Amino acid sequence: MSDVGYDEVARRILAAGSVTALTGAGVSAASGVPTFRGAGGLWRTFRVEDLAAPDAFARDPALVWEWYDWRRGLIAACRPNRAHEVLAAWSRERPHFSVVTQNVDGLHERAGTLNLTRLHGSIWTLQCWSTCGADDWTDLRTPLEPRPPRCPDCGGIARPGVVWFGELLNPSDLAAADSACTCDVLLVVGTSSVVYPAAGLADIARSRGAFVVEINPEATPAAADLCLRQPAEVALAELAKRIGS
Ligand code: OAD
Repeated sequence: MSDVGYDEVARRILAAGSVTALTGAGVSAASGVPTFRGAGGLWRTFRVEDLAAPDAFARDPALVWEWYDWRRGLIAACRPNRAHEVLAAWSRERPHFSVVTQNVDGLHERAGTLNLTRLHGSIWTLQCWSTCGADDWTDLRTPLEPRPPRCPDCGGIARPGVVWFGELLNPSDLAAADSACTCDVLLVVGTSSVVYPAAGLADIARSRGAFVVEINPEATPAAADLCLRQPAEVALAELAKRIGS
């Protein structure tokens, strides 16, 4: 990537009143968390769409929990990388800096990110599958025992507290993401931009006048004004150097 791209993005961030970063699985790739699509995206022979869905869970909760338990164990052994750290530092140091993430791994939180909206929930949260009325709860154990885990209130099967294909996003998270899209600069980092409604946020921000920057080594359908075709941990570290964070 030419210096010109980095200079322009750094200049835009410095001049901006508000900046939002929309992140996806690519931000955690350097931490060792597998992405959902592309190389290493399959678990056994299953695509994410075959597992992260209510009908998949209804059919075979043990299989879906085996996948989530495997991901939880793997993530527990990972640490935030430079990309998480730079975004966390900007969220603490820069006024009106927000992060909207599709990631459920908790690495933005562990890096100390402020103003964070989690669009797809958390892999560390559990919910009662039969919606008995129990509040969602946190369970950090890996591996889970028993598996599938049980609702503490009704004893029924619990499900991961993540948003699955075909499910609606939490309205307050969606509202927070929409409001964060009213910004001067939107950084779209490490997402394939194919899963809606998150994939529509760049267009929303752009239609409101945001300058949209994509940071991703691969091309995606995201409509960006400028693309930095580098890994997030490289590009954000480079930008942090120029911005002085
Ligand atoms: P994907 O796995 O679809 O896309 C990951 C993106 O990260 C790809 O575009 C890669 O090119 C890019 N990438 C890989 N390594 C990178 C790096 N080091 N730096 C920057 N980019 C890198 O993941 P998401 O777009 O997050 O939802 O997927 C969206 C949603 O689909 C997920 O939240 C999940 C999944 O189904 C649910 O489970 C509901």
